[in-house]
Amino acid sequence: MTHHLPERLQTDRLVLRAPRAADTRTLFDAYTQDADVARYMVWRPHSRLAETEAFVQQCLRSWESGLGHPYILAKPDRELEAIGMLEARILQHTVDIGYVLARAHWGQGLMPEAVAHLTRTALENTRFYRVQATCDVDNQASARTLEKAGFIREARLERYLVHPNLSSEPRPCFMYARCR
Ligand SMILES: CC(C)(COP(=O)(O)OP(=O)(O)OC[C@H]1O[C@@H](n2cnc3c(N)ncnc32)[C@H](O)[C@@H]1OP(=O)(O)O)[C@@H](O)C(=O)NCCC(=O)NCCS
Repeated sequence: MTHHLPERLQTDRLVLRAPRAADTRTLFDAYTQDADVARYMVWRPHSRLAETEAFVQQCLRSWESGLGHPYILAKPDRELEAIGMLEARILQHTVDIGYVLARAHWGQGLMPEAVAHLTRTALENTRFYRVQATCDVDNQASARTLEKAGFIREARLERYLVHPNLSSEPRPCFMYARCR
């Protein structure tokens, strides 16, 4: 399968690499069971390792199909130790991203660094004109991440996504994008 984005990217402080089955345990320990991390996500915190295992298998299939590029984030000197993820989904000329970082690593500007690098890489590919992301209107850390990575807030989308840790009903989200 042809990939539209590289299998590996590197920033000053992070490696973005394809996932491996062996990441399951590290992801579970780092954040998939953490309710604070999952609060604004579309999934509930995992209570069993098997849930994270199923998620990692889904990520491996995404890479195989070429439709999704879920990257593991790790420090360059500890590549095996997953500390977060940044997923890029291919929607024709648009790359739609989602991201999450283990709580122990919040507040150091790591995710804006990863998002900005992935976005620059995507927009260097002549196929892509737009990188976009949505976040819950209450998720100020995520909105700020996108702004720091050069994204523009384009709209507030009413009743757009269910964030099950907040409500069973679809909630409003901000749509952010960076284009060329
Ligand atoms: C969102 C997330 C990826 C940010 O990553 P990070 O590497 O910690 O980002 P930063 O270090 O740049 O910090 C986030 C920014 O938001 C700000 N921020 C954090 N919490 C905030 C809050 N409750 N209210 C207002 N601003 C907040 C920080 O001050 C910082 O901005 P600043 O540098 O201008 O001060 C991380 O918090 C996370 O993984 N959260 C849980 C998962 C999630 O919500 N993912 C996004 C789903 S759309």
